[in-house]
Amino acid sequence: MVRLKIQQLTKSYQNGVKALDGITLNIANGMFGLLGPNGAGKSSLMRTLATLQLPDAGQVHFDGSDVLQNSQEMRNKLGYLPQDFGVYPKVSAIDLLNHLAVLKGLQNKNERKEQVTSLLQQTNLFEVRKRYVSTFSGGMRQRFGIAQALLGNPQLIIVDEPTAGLDPQERNRFHDLLSEIGANRVVILSTHIVEDVNDLCAEMAVMANGKLILQGKPSDLTQKLDGKIWRRVIDKADLAQYSSVFNVISTKIISGKLHIFILADECPAHVFERVYPRLEEVYFSSLFGAANQNLEVML
Ligand SMILES: Nc1ncnc2c1ncn2[C@@H]1O[C@H](COP(=O)(O)OP(=O)(O)O)[C@@H](O)[C@H]1O
Ligand SMILES: [Mg+2]
Repeated sequence: MVRLKIQQLTKSYQNGVKALDGITLNIANGMFGLLGPNGAGKSSLMRTLATLQLPDAGQVHFDGSDVLQNSQEMRNKLGYLPQDFGVYPKVSAIDLLNHLAVLKGLQNKNERKEQVTSLLQQTNLFEVRKRYVSTFSGGMRQRFGIAQALLGNPQLIIVDEPTAGLDPQERNRFHDLLSEIGANRVVILSTHIVEDVNDLCAEMAVMANGKLILQGKPSDLTQKLDGKIWRRVIDKADLAQYSSVFNVISTKIISGKLHIFILADECPAHVFERVYPRLEEVYFSSLFGAANQNLEVML
């Protein structure tokens, strides 16, 4: 069942950049991954959904209610972890979370205390609750960011690039945490990291240049691309030549050797090896298609 309905959202900034260009998207319960390179417009979309900025045109409805018209009401119902949740006061985690809970309208002291304690436990911060948030590691900060986003048990949660800058261990821990909160609510996770979506999201979309260029279930999208991805190990010096002849969607150094991935309906030459696409190939194919619009990419 669709809960979040986004229709034809458009936004240009004063410098003329069109950050959102007709975004239409329906989102149901669960974790939705919004994947795109830097500058794609992800944060612009997240801020609009969080009612922190108005679009030039378009509509957003959550459970039938007009989000942009009823922004105050919406703010109490949504949890938001911004990309640059950066400035931390010299306040302990528990005091800051309690303060944010007051701002969120949790007036009953006992209920508030219960919820703050439970969120600190859920995010594995209870042991360090008396430490200043300013002394937290990146991973701890992001977990704190989730704790504050969950205050008031919101039905719509927006997390913008939460894993950028985390080390692999912290990222795994953060993935575990995110995977717990997805049931029975809408969670939108924006990221430029394919693994985030691969690990966590049942539904996804790819955004580039303010537009949605691909949408679906990760497993369907990889399956659809099967038979169209070809790999070869080449000399670095030959890359430019390959790129001019073939649709090179991505390159990767594996054990010091340069692997190139090519998009083609049929085997481009016998030296190429067919590979079953991963979500990474889906992502790079869609970006390749968007950048070469004269080319029909069959996604
Ligand atoms: N406040 C702003 N003023 C002007 N341009 C902006 C502003 N915020 C974002 N942009 C531009 O809009 C485009 C989309 O940015 P953003 O939404 O931050 O993308 P992403 O989060 O995917 O990296 C970029 O070209 C960016 O430079
Ligand atoms: Mg961003």
